[in-house]
Amino acid sequence: MPKARPATKILLDSGDPEETLHIKNLLGYVDGQTTNPTYVAKNPEVQQFLTSGGRFTAAQQNEEYRKIVRQISPLVGSAGVSIEVFADFNTRAEDMLAQGEEMFGWIPNAYIKYPCLPEGLRAAQMSVQRGIRVNMTLCFSQAQAAAVYAATKGTKEPAYVSPFVGRLDDRGEDGMSLVANIKKMYANGDGHVQVLAASFRKVDHLLQSFALNAELTTSPVKILEQWAAAGTPIPGKDFSYTAVDSKGNALREIPYKELDLNASWDSFDLHHELTDIGIKRFVADYKSTLKSAA
Ligand code: E4P
Repeated sequence: MPKARPATKILLDSGDPEETLHIKNLLGYVDGQTTNPTYVAKNPEVQQFLTSGGRFTAAQQNEEYRKIVRQISPLVGSAGVSIEVFADFNTRAEDMLAQGEEMFGWIPNAYIKYPCLPEGLRAAQMSVQRGIRVNMTLCFSQAQAAAVYAATKGTKEPAYVSPFVGRLDDRGEDGMSLVANIKKMYANGDGHVQVLAASFRKVDHLLQSFALNAELTTSPVKILEQWAAAGTPIPGKDFSYTAVDSKGNALREIPYKELDLNASWDSFDLHHELTDIGIKRFVADYKSTLKSAA
């Protein structure tokens, strides 16, 4: 008898279609997949090309990314494939939108990832008005999630917001408490934004996301293998999550804030240090595969 599936969607965090197939064989399904510049750089074919001394032009890199997501696209379910635009601190919303429009045409089930920067929010607002599905990435604060809600109001299809749990845990803050806060805040809204809990470091992140009723999760292959090996448990509200880091030290809970979802998106404080660090890391990984710094 097939095992019960959680109400929370299971996405794979990876840029390797072979991993998609592997997890699909293991679980019987993969609801969707999230990619990013780091995962594209880690793709085995890309790695082989780099090891043999090859480097892409920006156009070749784009073509490679397209090839990868086209392989993944038919393997996944309704949560689609998230494709990330190139964005540094100078990238204008119009440029992100142009990339997003092109990428959205690559496959029928694309979600376009824009960063939780002011220009990323502006690009998201223009995108949803054009029917482009979005996944707002590098989310580290409740204020950013409130801005995502406000910027994507009126979208025909749900927008995703991706709180990065593990990177908060990495610096001593309880990333799962951010997911809980966003879910609580969105309970006052119209449901047009879905929470895609991301940046997982352990199976407990997945299990606590189920308990918090996150609509979606994305996990690296190792975590889904561990979950499968444990018999794909699906704990509910009664799951007892221990907010500790990898050494067992207690993580600091992130306090809940009362925020007005009806305020305009640019009235929220969008700055978060980890978003800036995340942008720098994605830019470096993107450029690591290129012939010359683009
Ligand atoms: C998902 O969309 C993210 O890109 C991903 O979960 C990042 O995770 P990391 O913190 O392990 O890089």
